[in-house]
Amino acid sequence: MVDQDGRYIMLISVHGLIRGRDMELGRDVDTGGQTTYVVELARALIQHPAVSQVDLVTRLVVDPRVDAGYAEPVEELAPGARIVRIRCGPDRYLPKESLWPHLDSFADNLVLYIRSKGRAPDLVHGHYADAGYVASCVSGLLRVPMAFTGHSLGRVKRERLLAQGSKPEAIERRYHISQRIEAEETALDNAAFVIASTHQEVEDQYSSYDNHQPRRMIVIPPGVDLSRFTPPSRSSKPRPPIYHEVTRFLADRSKPMILAISRPDARKNIATLIRAFGENEDLRELANLVIVAGTRDDICKMDKGAREVLSEILYLVDAYDLYGSVAYPKRHAPDDVPEFYRIAADTKGVFVNPALTEPFGLTLLEAAASGLPIVATEDGGPREIVAHCKNGLLVDPLNVKAMGEVLLQAVGDRQQWKKWSRSGLRGAHKHFSWTAHADKYMRAARTAITYSETQHVFYSVKSRLITADRLIVTDVDNTLTGDAEGLQRLLELLREAGERVAVGIATGRNLKLTRDVLEHWDIPTPQLLITSVGSAIHYGPHLVEDRGWDRHINYRWRPEALSAAMTELPGLKLQDAEQQSRHKISYDVDPEAAPSLREIRRHLRRSRLQAKVIYSHRAYLDLLPIRASKGRALRHIADKWGIPLDCCLVAGDSGNDEEMLTGNTLGVVVGNYDPDLEKLRGNPRIYFAQGHHAWGIIEGIGQYNFLGQIRIPDQKVPAYETVAG
Ligand code: GLC
Ligand code: MG
Repeated sequence: MVDQDGRYIMLISVHGLIRGRDMELGRDVDTGGQTTYVVELARALIQHPAVSQVDLVTRLVVDPRVDAGYAEPVEELAPGARIVRIRCGPDRYLPKESLWPHLDSFADNLVLYIRSKGRAPDLVHGHYADAGYVASCVSGLLRVPMAFTGHSLGRVKRERLLAQGSKPEAIERRYHISQRIEAEETALDNAAFVIASTHQEVEDQYSSYDNHQPRRMIVIPPGVDLSRFTPPSRSSKPRPPIYHEVTRFLADRSKPMILAISRPDARKNIATLIRAFGENEDLRELANLVIVAGTRDDICKMDKGAREVLSEILYLVDAYDLYGSVAYPKRHAPDDVPEFYRIAADTKGVFVNPALTEPFGLTLLEAAASGLPIVATEDGGPREIVAHCKNGLLVDPLNVKAMGEVLLQAVGDRQQWKKWSRSGLRGAHKHFSWTAHADKYMRAARTAITYSETQHVFYSVKSRLITADRLIVTDVDNTLTGDAEGLQRLLELLREAGERVAVGIATGRNLKLTRDVLEHWDIPTPQLLITSVGSAIHYGPHLVEDRGWDRHINYRWRPEALSAAMTELPGLKLQDAEQQSRHKISYDVDPEAAPSLREIRRHLRRSRLQAKVIYSHRAYLDLLPIRASKGRALRHIADKWGIPLDCCLVAGDSGNDEEMLTGNTLGVVVGNYDPDLEKLRGNPRIYFAQGHHAWGIIEGIGQYNFLGQIRIPDQKVPAYETVAG
């Protein structure tokens, strides 16, 4: 059972391979820093006293090429925290660039999952553009606040690729970069707050976005799990095996060690470090240099980048004749990494990160937690770390001479060294722990959640579509409206019905005209609005558009060609521009002059055009995309929200209501109906009321006992269990 008292935070991170144990870091480019980050964040948040549930939602992958664990729908991370895996497109594992077409279905499946649990999160937090998009959908649909973390950003990537000479079309084809940027804009637009790891990230990256709002940006460095990193103990423990692997290179192993740990990647700038060391006599005299650049077997067999970096190291050691004072161990295990720092700290050495750029600098924090002072590139990450931890110096990564001098300064002063060592140890835990992160995070979250709650005082806080197990959808003109007293009585009835009943309207009017009529009759914005005869769907009260629907119905829609073909027919007059909408072309009909419905359809077919043609009140003709209609829209919604059709009561009075009245829904035709609908009489699931307008709907609700134990006329036993029942 969920503890309803604490907050429920939902983290979404779609791509990569995410699991709680033995993360396969580096298995591919999608499984790395971000996947670790989200799992650690989930674990940290559940430790926070204000949080009672954390779901980390990712993609379900069923693929023999990857571990079967990624096909488990739920994996527990800690009491109250779990990984939830949701279907998204095909079963097989896909790179993140291929997930774009499947994100809408991911969002829909996630909403169904939330509904099945009967509790909506208090905050959804999207990580990276893809999940930012999903979180925007879910946040809009459920009316819960969202947070966003970009991790890296599309605009920045595009600029970098362009600068490297890539062609715009190639970037587009390979990375779908404009879709990514659009998703990021959407996420920034919807987010109550955005979390960045450093101030530099905010200034250099987010600021290029249209929807960048400095006030919403919150800088919280990632917590770092520093539990493996501790200073060397004073007791003389036996030396770890890796000690010998390092010291076998060194003539005097007691000298302070200048330690560098990085991948063998040119951007890590190891060559400059060796030059700085090689060219500074005093430094060579005083210290040793230890370079840990991955693990190698045969350099000749490594990929080009690594091969070049490693060959250059060997070449430089030789060129400066650094034998005996530079170590470059060949192999190490992941568990040896904390030992490297301790070994260096034991010699009163320093850790150096000379990378050309360093947005964050995880190794610097590991060094700090090991009591090892640092020297690092003057860039975003190191700047912040040194500011918080006061544990070393910054250098210009391109200045060989200055680098040598700064290193000398860092290893040359014992008093200073002690201060740095102590202060780094304290600072790393205080500012960069996950506990500190979760505290700051929840401060921001609390503000966003409280704000969103106060915004909704006139409505239930979250959408009723989460808790409802039944849905009433009614036409507006002449069905819902027309009799003020009946309308008031109906609205009262629906207000009293509570959480289990969601209410929607389905109308021929477009959104603007719908809002006008609702206002005119003083009707509160319902949970869902099907407008323009089913060619648009919005969720209230903030009128969030169902974009998936818009895309779905766009199929074969050629409005210009349709309008042109229609001009050839007599008796039809295009309605005002105000009545038209993106997916609906409407005409006023002169029944005497106009061809029959059948003839109109045939005319369009002969012109090789597809459209749904709908005739209402012997006065209006609407052309819609073939996939659209009030009935289709209703089915889309029922499916999306997991509400069975026979728990949907629909009410209408004329032709454009026909498709939602027929089928498995429970139909109500109000007493003042248009004779067009006469043909529906006799269908057991279409009740013809005596009462007019809203009185007819009330009568229909009674007929089906819709607010109680629903009575389905042609069915004795319910064919399923209701969701919330
Ligand atoms: C509403 C619309 C109109 C449409 C009619 C029938 O009156 O405003 O454009 O033709 O419904 O669907
Ligand atoms: Mg009507």
